[in-house]
Amino acid sequence: MINVYEKLLLENKAWAKEQVQIDPEFFSRLSHIQSPEFLWIGCSDSRVPADKITGTQPGEIFVHRNIANMVVHTDINLLSVLEYAVEVLKVKHIIVCGHYGCGGVKAAMGNQSLGIINKWLRSIKDVYRIHRDEIDKIENEEDRTNRLIEYNVMEQVMNLAKTSIIQRAWKNNQRPHLHGWVYGLNDGIIKPVYEMEPGTHIDHLYEYDNL
Ligand code: CO
Repeated sequence: MINVYEKLLLENKAWAKEQVQIDPEFFSRLSHIQSPEFLWIGCSDSRVPADKITGTQPGEIFVHRNIANMVVHTDINLLSVLEYAVEVLKVKHIIVCGHYGCGGVKAAMGNQSLGIINKWLRSIKDVYRIHRDEIDKIENEEDRTNRLIEYNVMEQVMNLAKTSIIQRAWKNNQRPHLHGWVYGLNDGIIKPVYEMEPGTHIDHLYEYDNL
């Protein structure tokens, strides 16, 4: 009997063999260069694999995932990915993709302390507070959570626009286009909920003049 992790390695061998059969140049081509047009910022949830749900192939999508698809201005991991994607890979589109039923957002709506993750999810409580009047009017609990999930995606797209990385790229290169999407675990369908074209003005408080 094989261990569960050994199955992954066997599957990998089979996959590599199949790729070469379909396209003999597949690995030699991709080992030299990657030029993805998309940066994906998604939730770590195992049910939301960026490439599978968008039908993208290796080399087509640069991926960053964290709990609840957050854009946090002190997150050196996210900022490194963002700067590299925008300035070196020169991506044309950035997609923040949340998903309905997100456990991270559910946790942020509740009052249970979960340890270090409290800090990660805290700014989702701020998003809730901003939209509290509307969200609290929704009777069904699942619908309330899902509405906050949509607002959270919008907020994270706005957080991208608040970075000097995006503002500089908009000013100098008229890209990237920012998108906020929410994926449905129930039906596999992605719903676009928000977008920002290059050069969109945000609250002046957040705009830098000397880029
Ligand atoms: Co999630």
